[in-house]
Amino acid sequence: KLSEEDKVRSPICCMMGHIDTGKTKLLDYITGNVQEGEAGGTTQKMGATYLSARNILEKTMELKSDTKLKVPRPLFIDTPGYEFYTNLRSRGLGLCDFAILVVDIMHGLEPQTIECLNLLRMKNTEFIIALNKVDRLYGWRICENAPILEAMKQQTKDVINEFNMRLNEIINQFKEQGLNSELYYKNKEMGETFSIVPTCAISGEGIPDLLLLLVQLTQKTMVEKLITYVDKVQCTVLEVKVMEGYGTTIDVVLVNGELHEGGQIVVCGLQGPIVTTIRALLTPHPIKELHVNGNHVHHEVIKAAECINIIAKDLEHVIVGTALHVVGPDDDIEAIKELVMED
Ligand code: GTP
Ligand code: NA
Ligand code: MG
Repeated sequence: KLSEEDKVRSPICCMMGHIDTGKTKLLDYITGNVQEGEAGGTTQKMGATYLSARNILEKTMELKSDTKLKVPRPLFIDTPGYEFYTNLRSRGLGLCDFAILVVDIMHGLEPQTIECLNLLRMKNTEFIIALNKVDRLYGWRICENAPILEAMKQQTKDVINEFNMRLNEIINQFKEQGLNSELYYKNKEMGETFSIVPTCAISGEGIPDLLLLLVQLTQKTMVEKLITYVDKVQCTVLEVKVMEGYGTTIDVVLVNGELHEGGQIVVCGLQGPIVTTIRALLTPHPIKELHVNGNHVHHEVIKAAECINIIAKDLEHVIVGTALHVVGPDDDIEAIKELVMED
């Protein structure tokens, strides 16, 4: 039987934005988990990673906030900004409780920023705007990991002028899209006006602020939406990959429900439904949070929300982005096979 605590699952946050605005880099910075050499390259899939509680405490210390995590730490889903991947952005967002919309301060709103904005509104998802790459402002003085107001104090008048000019232009561009936005520390109408956090994903200016807002948004979402754990399995395939010693495996994000070792699953394949049995469920070693490259941890059962690597036979032709279904004792396998292929 589930305890009260077990009924709450981790909230899920989606990284969204135009190509090369710094979504993956920001994620690397705030989670401390480097995304397998991804930042800088073009993200071509969805990825999932946890923010460690330790990171939140360390990185918000400067703001002297009492950010004790009363809610589970968020799980992040990274999405590609490349125009071709509308489908993955939409699917990624569909899995999430809230989002971070990343905008490059030097470029302002770009085509996929607007596409993401429309998706966010269509799905009625709350979000924070990260105005990234502030270090690109001409003459920016680096202040590693500083809260943004601290960092601004160290800048020359020219830098502050350029910052304000670009910020106002971007606020206007959002207004043209019908969206009110404001610097988060000036925002008095949360909910109606969206908060902007200036950030740098290289030297960390504004990261404490972003983490603080994330914690607040997490708590608010948890209270308002009552993200409760439900039994019904909701699980999406993020990646198909070959792992040494295991053959072809899949990375999935489990949004709800639980998966069992030995359980029968059905996934969508190029040549039709694939019915297979879970041989092993792996998650990255917790030691990874300590920046050590460890192995994986085996689990007999895993509960949502979690990103998991599944070892099973016949996974070569699984289509990423599609749903994974679990076959229960009373389920009609033929019906599930049909359902899987509709995705
Ligand atoms: P896609 O996944 O392809 O959409 O890109 P992305 O939004 O994940 O951007 P990514 O993290 O790959 O960063 C793109 C480039 O911008 C990389 O070369 C990063 O090093 C650089 N970059 C990201 N954030 C910052 C920043 O705050 N300042 C500076 N100067 N460069 C940044
Ligand atoms: Na990129
Ligand atoms: Mg990326």
